[in-house]
This record gives sequence, C-alpha cells and structure tokens, in this order.
Amino acid sequence: MVGRRHSHFFFSLLSLPSHRITIPLYYRLLLLLCFPLALALVPPVPPSNYGGGGDGGASVLSLPRNKSLRFSAGAGAAFKIAIFADLHYGENAWTDWGPQQDANSDRVLSAVLDKENPDFVIYLGDVVTANNLPIPNASLYWDRAISATRSRGIPWATVFGNHDDAAFEWPSDWFSSSGIPEVRCPTANISSTGAEQCSFRGTPRIDLMNTEINNNRLSYSATGPKELWPSVSNYVLQILSSKEMDPVALLYFLDSGGGSYPEVISNAQAKWFQAQSQIINPNGKVPEIIFWHIPSIAFSKVAPKPNSEIDKPCVGSINLESVAPQDAEWGIMDILAKRPSVKAIFSGHNHGLDWCCPYQKLWLCFARHTGYGGYGDWPRGARIIEITEQPFSLKSWIRMENGTEHSDLILSS
Ligand SMILES: *[C@@H]1O[C@H](CO)[C@@H](O)[C@H](O)[C@H]1NC(C)=O
Ligand SMILES: *[C@@H]1O[C@H](CO)[C@@H](O)[C@H](O)[C@H]1NC(C)=O
Ligand SMILES: *[C@@H]1O[C@H](CO)[C@@H](O)[C@H](O)[C@H]1NC(C)=O
Ligand SMILES: *[C@@H]1O[C@H](CO)[C@@H](O)[C@H](O)[C@H]1NC(C)=O
Repeated sequence: MVGRRHSHFFFSLLSLPSHRITIPLYYRLLLLLCFPLALALVPPVPPSNYGGGGDGGASVLSLPRNKSLRFSAGAGAAFKIAIFADLHYGENAWTDWGPQQDANSDRVLSAVLDKENPDFVIYLGDVVTANNLPIPNASLYWDRAISATRSRGIPWATVFGNHDDAAFEWPSDWFSSSGIPEVRCPTANISSTGAEQCSFRGTPRIDLMNTEINNNRLSYSATGPKELWPSVSNYVLQILSSKEMDPVALLYFLDSGGGSYPEVISNAQAKWFQAQSQIINPNGKVPEIIFWHIPSIAFSKVAPKPNSEIDKPCVGSINLESVAPQDAEWGIMDILAKRPSVKAIFSGHNHGLDWCCPYQKLWLCFARHTGYGGYGDWPRGARIIEITEQPFSLKSWIRMENGTEHSDLILSS
C-alpha cells in the first residue's frame, strides 16, 4: 500500500454520484425493449477468445487447455503455489538505499523459491513502486521481479496493486536548491538521451501486462475483457488433475484498482465473476480460490484488534496495523460468500498483517510482505498454498526469508 490513504476520502466522494443517477422512465423503457435485441445480436464466442489475446470482445469465455496448469503425476502429488506480495521494486532509484532494497528482494525470492520449489508463483500486486519511477518503462523493473521465477523455469501469474501504474510523485527535496531541479533520471539500462527519457507518467496497466505476456512463454497472466476497463488483471486459470482433463481447482484473479483509478472491485467485475463461474463451474463441484491485492471491507470486519494477539480461529504471526481496505464494496463479497465452492481469498497491501480469518464459509488471508521496498521492517517472507487432489485439500503456511516456517493452516479439506 504505502501512504495512499489520503486519497481514500476523495475517491469515496467521487464514487457516490454514479450511484444516484436516475434514468428517466422513457430511457428505461427504451433500454428494456432494446436489451433482448442486443442479446440476439451478440455473436457466439469462440473458445479461443479467452484471456490474453486482448481482443476483449466478450465477457463470458471458456478456458483453453493450453493455458491450464496441471498436477504432476505420482501418488499423493500436491500442487504448490508461492505468493509474492508487495515487492515494491524500483523505490528511490536515485539513492543508494533504493537499489539496495531491490537486491534484498531478489535474495528473498531466491531463498523462498529454492526452499519451496513451487509449481507456480502468484505476484499479488505492488510488484513495482511506479510513483518512484522517473523512467518511461516500468516493465524494466517488472521484468526484474519476475526473473527469479522465470530463471528457474517456474510459471507464474500477476495481478495489479495500487502502486503498479501510479504516476511519478516528485520528491519535495528535489526542489530544495534554487531554481529548476536538475533532471535526475536513473540512467541504468536506458539509452540515455536526457530529459525526454523521463516521462513521469507511469506505465499503464495494459502496457505492463502486454509486455509481460508477449515476452514470456511462462507467463499465465492475461488481460481481462475490455468492458471491465479500467481494471485489467481479471482472469481465471484452472489446475487440471494429473491423469484426467478434470479441473481440481480454479484460480480467479481480480484487479482491485488503485494507482490510476480508485481502489475498488467494480460491480461489473462482480457480475463478470458470477457469469464466468456459472459457465465454467455451474454446479460448484470445483473448488475456487480468489486472488486480489487490496483487502475488501470484509477483511476489516473479521480482523483481530490491531496490536492484539491473533486468537483462534484466526491464524498468523503479525497483527500490527489496521486493515486498509478497498474504498467501497460493490457486490463481489456477497457473491463469493454465497458460493460454497469459494474456499479462500488472498490479499496483500497491508505489510504488517499476515493472518487468515474465517468469514462466513470462506477464509480471508493476508499474504506476507515479501519485498524490501515499501513501508515496514517486519521480516520478509511469502505465503505458500498447497492443493491436493483425491481428496481435495487446501493448506497454507508462511515461509520466511531465513527458511523458518510458521502459521500452518488447513483452509479446506
Ligand atoms: C493456445 O491455443 C490457441 C488456439 O489453438 C493459440 O492461438 C495460442 O497461441 C495458444 N497459446 C499458447 C500459449 O500456446
Ligand atoms: C520496456 O521494456 C521491456 C523489457 O522489459 C521491453 O520488452 C519493452 O519493449 C519496453 N517498452 C517500451 C515501450 O520501451
Ligand atoms: C540494469 O542492468 C544491470 C546490469 O545488467 C542490472 O544489474 C540491473 O539490475 C538493471 N537494472 C534494472 C532497473 O533492471
Ligand atoms: C528467522 O526469522 C524469524 C523472524 O521471522 C526469527 O523469529 C527466527 O528466530 C529466525 N530463525 C533463524 C534460524 O534465524
């Protein structure tokens, strides 16, 4: 997260009016009449339209086999996922401190990957601190964040946090000497021609994602349907059984906003989830697991009091701040809580929280602050989740940078 709370109130105010727009009766009737016609005109969607292609025409799509994950063969095989949250690459690149944090983050990623050897990695947002990047291409830092996983041949997926496409925030001390501040663009890896290399605008979500997808065979990320704009990282992946084509679990990724737009999951995203899950998993036989960066307001409702012990049924090791939730709740939690197949939601954003707590029939879990960028000095680590088939189970624990393990928990069995 890092200090964007000041904008919370402002965005809450902004989002109110849209709620109150009343459509004149005449238009409502017209809409009502046109709706069935519009439905009839929508062409059937070929399966290959799903996800990463970026054609974005349709919201309800099926899953292509070649973008599926699979359990490895062998009795008792498990599918293990490492969650890297809040890496915050690229902080204060003009100081000695910033690049040192990135080197430290590289070390955490390697330590966790070597210890756990996961089948898959999820980058749970705030991969980069774009508001610190006075360069035109944040993908240079994004790429560094995924390189530890890529170099080990492990596939991964990414979702956006509130810092990934944020605009550059001018440090006030750049203005401390007289006159116009010196242009201080980091020159590393940029064929520098001077001022035009500093764009100060942030790299848009869609550019970050397309660069990742186009350059990486192992990326399972996708740009969601265009009608969910301005949110981008909305997609679903399936993990197939080692023997059959049956999915053992479905992983849903949602963009919880922030940076270039408010910190919310829109009602359109909620409806998209509902439509997808009805088509892919109509009878709810396949367990579903959800990933997004900013905790929803429901996390605040189940949170242990800040700085207090984490008592059962919650499980975790740090509880040292208040939940900093999304700006509003536009329907996603209601839909998820009513679907018994949804087992857990994993969020990052709060660096000083790493607990899981039950909420109705599902679990709400924080990841663990993984990167050295971003606020807080709590020891770094990564939440791991492990899925087994036959029988299905979903377990989780936290692996620290120094190799220790804690907060083991069975989320579903
Ligand atoms: C998956 O299959 C589709 C259609 O067969 C193809 O267009 C696409 O390039 C494939 N994707 C990958 C990652 O292999
Ligand atoms: C940004 O950097 C990536 C390498 O990480 C490169 O593939 C991409 O083409 C660059 N984009 C622009 C607009 O320079
Ligand atoms: C720039 O390149 C150097 C050497 O190849 C590398 O060590 C460094 O991490 C790169 N910086 C970024 C921001 O990618
Ligand atoms: C590892 O780090 C944890 C803090 O996360 C600390 O409590 C523990 O003592 C450390 N263990 C070792 C073996 O260094």
